[in-house]
Amino acid sequence: MNPGKLIAFEGIDGCGKSTQLAKLAERVRAADIEVCITAEPTQFETGRKIRAAARAGKAIAPEVELDWFLEDRRIHVDRVIGPALEAGQMVLCDRYTLSSVAYQGARGLDPEAILRAGEAAFPLPDLVLLFAISPREGLARVAARGGVSEPLFENEEFLESVAHVFDSIDRPYIARLDASGDADRLETEVLDRLERRLGVALRRGI
Ligand code: TYD
Repeated sequence: MNPGKLIAFEGIDGCGKSTQLAKLAERVRAADIEVCITAEPTQFETGRKIRAAARAGKAIAPEVELDWFLEDRRIHVDRVIGPALEAGQMVLCDRYTLSSVAYQGARGLDPEAILRAGEAAFPLPDLVLLFAISPREGLARVAARGGVSEPLFENEEFLESVAHVFDSIDRPYIARLDASGDADRLETEVLDRLERRLGVALRRGI
């Protein structure tokens, strides 16, 4: 039904997924494939509400947090992802359903229930690139780009739980990548997965 492809980039903060998304987008464009680059939380009102609450350090119940992310995803699918897929584009999405599974799962909600509900409500991804890195290394990268605002220990403890849930998710559309170390090596891995899983070859052109 949808001629397009949906590729989600997932992992804990500092895993390097956004860098890899940008690198892949460049290659997709160079191959003359129409690409849609997008992210969650979105820039719509629903996403801005989430970011504003996070910045204010507001304590939000996990159920409410999940509702907010789902509301934002619904808008995102309606306005951006759905139309792009129908137009046959390759959608590169920075965070999607598995972020809700892992982050809200780490806050105590049932990961499997979030995953099943997400799969029923939203387009299934053709591929999820799941970037695995230790929370310590991820946080060091976030700190290096000047992004840490909460106590390191608390963050690390929480991200350990998030990483644990990411590790436990089992779906055929997930490709796991070791995200520690070099970005160029990781890019090669990403291209390998695209070729093997989706039959999309992007090595030439750049
Ligand atoms: P953002 O500043 O965009 O971080 P990043 O660049 O790491 O994606 O904020 C996204 C935060 O929101 C991130 O910490 C993960 C969290 N999140 C959830 O908890 N649930 C979700 O469903 C999504 C999409 C994100």
